Amino acid sequence: MSEKNPNTVAIRALPEHVGEEVSIAGWLFNRRSKGKIHFLQFRDGSGKVQAIMGKGDVSEELFERCAHLPYESSVIVTGTVAADERAPSGVELKASGIEVLQEPTSEYPISKTSDIGPDFLLRHRHLWLRQSKQHAILRVRDAVITAIRNFFGERDFVCVDAPIFTPNACEGTTNLFEVEYFDEKAYLTQSGQLYMEAAAMAFGKAYCFGPTFRAEKSKTRRHLTEFWMVEPEVAFADLDDIMDLAEEFVSSIIQYVLEHRRAELDVLERDTSLLEKVAAPFPRISYSEAVSILNEKGIDFEEGGDFGAPDETALSEHFESPVLVHRYPSAVKAFYMKRDPEDENYALCVDMLAPEGVGEIIGGGQREDNLEVLEAGIDKHGLPREAFEWYMDLRRYGTVPHAGFGLGIERTVAWICGTEHVRECIPFPRMLHRIYP
Ligand code: 4AD
Ligand code: MG
Repeated sequence: MSEKNPNTVAIRALPEHVGEEVSIAGWLFNRRSKGKIHFLQFRDGSGKVQAIMGKGDVSEELFERCAHLPYESSVIVTGTVAADERAPSGVELKASGIEVLQEPTSEYPISKTSDIGPDFLLRHRHLWLRQSKQHAILRVRDAVITAIRNFFGERDFVCVDAPIFTPNACEGTTNLFEVEYFDEKAYLTQSGQLYMEAAAMAFGKAYCFGPTFRAEKSKTRRHLTEFWMVEPEVAFADLDDIMDLAEEFVSSIIQYVLEHRRAELDVLERDTSLLEKVAAPFPRISYSEAVSILNEKGIDFEEGGDFGAPDETALSEHFESPVLVHRYPSAVKAFYMKRDPEDENYALCVDMLAPEGVGEIIGGGQREDNLEVLEAGIDKHGLPREAFEWYMDLRRYGTVPHAGFGLGIERTVAWICGTEHVRECIPFPRMLHRIYP
């Protein structure tokens, strides 16, 4: 492309080229014609620009073709960049030529006027990605990921990747994806945590970031079967240390996105007033305090169980900032959670609930570091000890207090974007009964 069009510039960069003749390479997404003028709108992934084409500016044949050029035709447009205060980007193009690479073979399925539902859009996810709102959400996701990498990089965490095929469960056995692994059974990872515990003992501070899998049989707005999680793990850290890290981490992600994705949040018409206020420290309440809040709100919740989606929503609406809920009953939590020495019925764990009804975005806590207690926990959860021998080695050879957490990327993006459903916050969502495209 660049050889043929040495002057091709990204639409985003057009304001730097006012007065120059340049080419842009992109797609036609809208058009208005007024007799002797076409107003053609192009996008190239980096931005959008309107090109004005007057009848005398190009050959009669091209002018006529542009009156009918189908949406999503791929093109190279040449023209002079002119400043225009009314244009959102501050510039427009005075078109002098268009090279059409391809005209769509039939009408673009996602037209602006037709009333199309979520199922249709999800089946056309490969095309839906081009739409402004989806484009904006995925650019926010990109910034969230950059913020995550920056945050840990600046704090000397080492990125240690966890495997996807695993021999054992991490987060319970009810939502495991089982796969054939030659002549053995294996499972798609539910969390890289156990491996990060090994990494923390080797590197002190480590994190993994990758896809994780849960065979969630329910359709909710918060659950995907494949989602991305970032999981830091720290040696010589306790529950309080990890809560400090989690609130600093989430604040820094929000600040980074507000700084770098303002235009996208505008496209999404996101009211950012509450996001602007997100700054550590966050309120911290115990599970038991959370239960009291629910009861005060008239929600009939009995101490002892795990919070369901409606409980989490109620709690997250109660606070204007993210809230850390710690010390859930050990009975509802995973085998690796350390018991609270003050009351063994509770675990040294923490969930972070995002506000505005979003609910849990982080789960984590302090890990059981005593071999005997851990063995008993594995037995109690009915898990096969053999599969965890390597994990128990971490308690045999230099065990130390350690803690970590996992942040779900899609739920975080959904919160920041104000998106109802997590399915729009991952490029190609995987859900119950949905694996295409
Ligand atoms: O609370 P979870 O299950 O915690 C763990 O997996 C820990 N082993 C993490 C750790 O301590 N290293 O999951 C962590 C987060 C949730 O708070 C949520 O944001 C996200 O992962 N999550 C999901 N996101 C989308 N779809 C699902 N089915 C999810 N399940 C969990
Ligand atoms: Mg959880």
